[in-house]
Amino acid sequence: MEIHRFASPAEFAPLRARPEQGAIDIVDQTRLPQSLVTRRLATVLDAADAIRSMQVRGAPLIGVTAAYGLAIALRADPTEYHLRASRALLLATRPTAVNLRWALDRCERVALAVPEPSRAAAVWNEADAIAAEDVAINRAIGEHGLRLIRELAVGSRPVNVLTHCNAGALATLGYGTATAPIYLAHAAGVAVHVWVSETRPRLQGARLTTWELHAHGVPHTLIVDAASATIMQHGKVDIVLVGADRVAVNGDVCNKIGTYEKALAARDNAVPMYAAVPSPSIDWTLPDGSRIPIEERDREEVLGAAGSDPSQPQGTVVFNPGFDVTPARLLTGIITERGVCKPTALRTLFPG
Ligand code: MRU
Repeated sequence: MEIHRFASPAEFAPLRARPEQGAIDIVDQTRLPQSLVTRRLATVLDAADAIRSMQVRGAPLIGVTAAYGLAIALRADPTEYHLRASRALLLATRPTAVNLRWALDRCERVALAVPEPSRAAAVWNEADAIAAEDVAINRAIGEHGLRLIRELAVGSRPVNVLTHCNAGALATLGYGTATAPIYLAHAAGVAVHVWVSETRPRLQGARLTTWELHAHGVPHTLIVDAASATIMQHGKVDIVLVGADRVAVNGDVCNKIGTYEKALAARDNAVPMYAAVPSPSIDWTLPDGSRIPIEERDREEVLGAAGSDPSQPQGTVVFNPGFDVTPARLLTGIITERGVCKPTALRTLFPG
């Protein structure tokens, strides 16, 4: 396994646009941490495949990849028919992260506002803008979250942060969302230590979050998902920071499966828990989280996760939801690019 070191998350990008080639290069996240390999996405089918297969994943990165995917599609064929078909193809890749629909809607509006010959360039520029905005959003979330971490710092004792899945630099174009406050704290000399829950069955915590924390030199410890409650009970967690795939207007937060359990444990142990939520992850059409579409994934992910030998009788029935919804009442707050608010008060930061 190669060892990677990055001085700052800004040095690392899981997606790079190659406008001269009319393509994008992505880090194939299914290969991490064993190998850091890139894949060129040169067609809309490539982009859809990369999202579906989770070579790119994480709500913001899915949105940016889809935006470039639409631009790439329009270079091949700028007609409205192809625009609509490509949008549908990309939208169908993964159902839960609303950033995908948000980015596609935004790019579609831009495409339809200009004549066919200008469409590909206009949408490419829009994808660049979405990517640049994501970097700025990450940074702002990081600054707001850093204040929360500073408040918890006592002397030289590290602030213990628990995170789940990967809401990091690998899931975005910048510092990550849940990880941005951690990286900024680390850079500012505020001692932080991160508990990383492994995130069965795809192991985004174990494979990806540990990889990037290691690459950035942030102290961390890997735990199995089920250890989260006990370490909170033993006073080893000062704050829980997680990401979000879709947030309803009332502050219900949909994120990687297991987030809800962490919120229950955090509440029972009086540990503050925040979701880091970039505004493109808010679904303003949903009053609450009950109608958020939850991706149901392949049974093989669960059957294979424990190793190559089958760990259950043949034919065992599996249910594998990829996400869950944490009720707003269990969260201490939501960190957005516009500041920190009570989960139920998103409209005060985004009056609409
Ligand atoms: O299935 P994944 O790996 O795409 O799920 C990712 C998450 O649940 C993240 O927490 C979320 O997308 C936020 S990423 C900034």
